[in-house]
Amino acid sequence: MQATKFKSLFSLAAIYKNCVRTVAVTSTTTNTNTENLKPFKDIPGPPSLPIIGQLHHFMFGGVFTNMEDPKTVTRLTETYGPIIRLDSIFGKPPLLFLSDPESVAFILRSENWMPIRPDLESLEYYRKYYKKNKKAGQGNKFQTTGLSTENGKEWKEFRSTVNPVMLQPKTIKLYTAVIDEVAQDMIARMKANRDDNNMIKKDFYKEMNLWALESIGTVALGCRLNCFDPNLPPESPEWQLFQCIQDLFTISYEIDFKPNLWRLFPTPMFWKAMKLYEKHENLLKYFIKKGQDNLKNKCGIERGVLEKLLEINEYTAYIMASDMLFAGVDTAANTVTATLYLLAKNPEKQAKLREEILSKSERRPYLRACIKESMRLMPVVAGNARKTSKPYNILGYEVPKDVNIIFTHQTMSLMENNFPRADEFIPERWLVKKDDPLYYGHSHPFACLPFGFGVRSCIGRRIAELEMETFMSKLMENFQVEWFGPPPKTVHRSLNYIMGPYNFVFRDIK
Ligand code: HEM
Repeated sequence: MQATKFKSLFSLAAIYKNCVRTVAVTSTTTNTNTENLKPFKDIPGPPSLPIIGQLHHFMFGGVFTNMEDPKTVTRLTETYGPIIRLDSIFGKPPLLFLSDPESVAFILRSENWMPIRPDLESLEYYRKYYKKNKKAGQGNKFQTTGLSTENGKEWKEFRSTVNPVMLQPKTIKLYTAVIDEVAQDMIARMKANRDDNNMIKKDFYKEMNLWALESIGTVALGCRLNCFDPNLPPESPEWQLFQCIQDLFTISYEIDFKPNLWRLFPTPMFWKAMKLYEKHENLLKYFIKKGQDNLKNKCGIERGVLEKLLEINEYTAYIMASDMLFAGVDTAANTVTATLYLLAKNPEKQAKLREEILSKSERRPYLRACIKESMRLMPVVAGNARKTSKPYNILGYEVPKDVNIIFTHQTMSLMENNFPRADEFIPERWLVKKDDPLYYGHSHPFACLPFGFGVRSCIGRRIAELEMETFMSKLMENFQVEWFGPPPKTVHRSLNYIMGPYNFVFRDIK
């Protein structure tokens, strides 16, 4: 028994060695010339059985049973190498995991004209078929269902329409004051909710999500939601919206990311998801109406995001608000939590950051570097994805059209050959000059892409950066942040979630 174990360990090591060697030799061979290639079925991956394919790997004891462990993909990469194949299960198309930055760069660049991102199929189903939104939107110029769910020509047209609204620095700057106000209110709430040990009495995860919802709400819905109000009743639309977003993420993980039968026939969980999407839609429409009423009383001349989107049409404003709330709450909340944790564990970096913030200088390069480094070490988005629009030669294998590929950025960001001293929190690597071995320019630019790439990259990046930088500054101004005990547990679902217990201590800065 023992000998067999060792034998399999050695053979795994041998596979990996071979794969590493293969990368060194073939990483330059990723291209669109598909002659004389090894067939797709030969791409390494967990072995398939007749009829059930790779299903048993998702069952008890299988390599994918613990898909919630963020290290699973890294372990698979160590076992099978930089390209891993997963066969079709329950109607989900085949999947590749890719951890070779050069190949990632090639595919992302080749697909950058009209990138297809396989995503949130249940939301797509809701918007396209359940609500027959295409029909509902017939009066609109673009028959779109939104950025998160659309692909092809319809995505491109919609993205070109909303890009000038969402990405213009002048428009985003309009939110500086209100985002600052939200951050200050959150600090006051945190101060009021500390116990005798300076720990937050309330659920820290919920608190960070409340901050993120209140912040993005000012942009998407054009008003303060006031979710920090301690007297807000649980049945209020504000609380319902908050809870609905949390529930949607949980259910979407179950039906979009795990093997699930709803693609073959409607399951009870499928109906539950549709009802939740419907509730979310109705709540958003209620808040947009409120935002519109607020705009009527506004006397300023500068127009904000909601105003500009409403000028395109009401449907566009609703769809973009929906996308902003889907994509902009958990992402910002988890990134701030990760940055706080890493600063708490590295008090000398925290002191350096506080010095920069208290200097009141307008430029804050160290703050930006801290957030960037936290997104490398503890990213909320573990990997990005594209569906191939043509056949490729990837590392010597034939990869046909219509294959979903996951770029394993979290795994690549933690590889020593991509980032020296990869598992250390060193914000300086984003600031030092070329002659320093840590200089980020020595690393492959496609290993770490927290906001994605190219024309399809995160449309909320500027807003997210404004929110996170503003809140982090306020946190550093007000608190000395400490952490005790073991590191927090992170689970990988549709996003990486930092779970409790949250052993943060927030001491007042004297
Ligand atoms: C730390 C915060 C955030 C991170 C790390 C993040 C990351 C990402 C990533 C990796 C993508 C996929 C990009 C690609 O396919 O190349 C994306 C897309 C997107 N993000 Fe973000 N995001 C964040 C915050 C936000 C916020 C605050 C908003 C709200 C405005 C937002 C809205 C979106 C939307 C609508 C898309 C889809 C874009 C498209 O497909 O055209 N994100 N984000």
